[in-house]
Parts: sequence; structure tokens; C-alpha cells
Amino acid sequence: MVREATLFDIPQINELGELLHTNFANLVKINEMLKDGYSKVLVYEKNSKVVGFLTATILYDTCDILDVVVEPLYRRENIASNLIAYLISECGENLKLMTLEVATHNIPALKLYEKFGFEIVYKREHYYKNDDAYLMARKSE
Ligand SMILES: CC(C)(COP(=O)(O)OP(=O)(O)OC[C@H]1O[C@@H](n2cnc3c(N)ncnc32)[C@H](O)[C@@H]1OP(=O)(O)O)[C@@H](O)C(=O)NCCC(=O)NCCS
Repeated sequence: MVREATLFDIPQINELGELLHTNFANLVKINEMLKDGYSKVLVYEKNSKVVGFLTATILYDTCDILDVVVEPLYRRENIASNLIAYLISECGENLKLMTLEVATHNIPALKLYEKFGFEIVYKREHYYKNDDAYLMARKSE
């Protein structure tokens, strides 16, 4: 099930975050995101364990997805899809635009975002250490 993260989830989120960036806990301050008023931190809990998380910022009518990670053993079980669907429903009718950056070679993530109607807007060269990034956007109808 998807739920809002709490302080108690931070160690498990940081562990999963390491799959995305080394030194995740120093780069991304989940404790600050939990109280800044514009960030969203969602977790997917299965058998009392956090097996996926999503971070995003919501400013006015725009939501920017920062990170989505699912533990390798639990991939292809719609966990990331559930996290994104929950985020969209939380944003409500006010939501006009969603954006994100994704590495151009990250096929699972590209397919995931396309499934939710995100489209490639343009390519940011050398955005990541070893890859370019696509800026993707999803407009609400
Ligand atoms: C990308 C990621 C979050 C997807 O999580 P997931 O829970 O496995 O995704 P879902 O099960 O919800 O899959 C939804 C759709 O995404 C696509 N998808 C997911 N994994 C895929 C893969 N390995 N190959 C191709 N398409 C894939 C499919 O369209 C899938 O729909 P389908 O199962 O009906 O075909 C996961 O692979 C991951 O954690 N990767 C490492 C971290 C990362 O790269 N995050 C994104 C950048 S921030």
C-alpha cells in the first residue's frame, strides 16, 4: 500500500535511494522534505517493509517528480505505478503540469512515465555524469 512517509521511514528510504545515487542521504534530505510544506514523500509498504518510494515537489499547479525507486526484488509489480497514481490523485484538480528528468538510457523509467502520459520535451546533454537526460512533461486535460 502507498502512504505518506514519516520520520521512521527515513533509514529505509535512504537505503533504497543508494540504488539511485551513491551518497543519497547526503544529497537528498528527506527529513527536510517531510516538513518543508511543498515536498511530497510517498512510500510503498509491503509486509511492514518499505519497498519503494517517490519524492516530488508541488508548487502551485505544477508537480515535479524527483525520484522514484523500487527495490529490485519487487519490480514489475506496479509499485511505481501505484506511487505515481497516488501522487496524481493527491495533487487533485488543481494540477496542470507534471515534469521530471530521466536518463535517456533508462528504458524501464521511460516506459513507466510514458504509461502515465509523459512526453519528451527536450534533451539535456550531459545532465548526468554518464548520460544525457530527457525532460518529460505531462499536461492535465
Ligand atoms: C523505474 C522503476 C521505478 C519502475 O518500477 P516498477 O515498480 O517496476 O514499475 P511498474 O511495475 O509500476 O511498471 C509500470 C510500467 O513501467 C514499464 N516498465 C517497468 N519496468 C520495465 C522494464 N524493466 N522494461 C520495460 N518496461 C518497464 C512498463 O510499461 C510497466 O508496465 P507493464 O508492467 O504493464 O508493462 C524501477 O525499475 C526502478 O526502481 N528503477 C531504478 C531506479 C530508477 O531508475 N528510477 C527512475 C528514475 S528517477
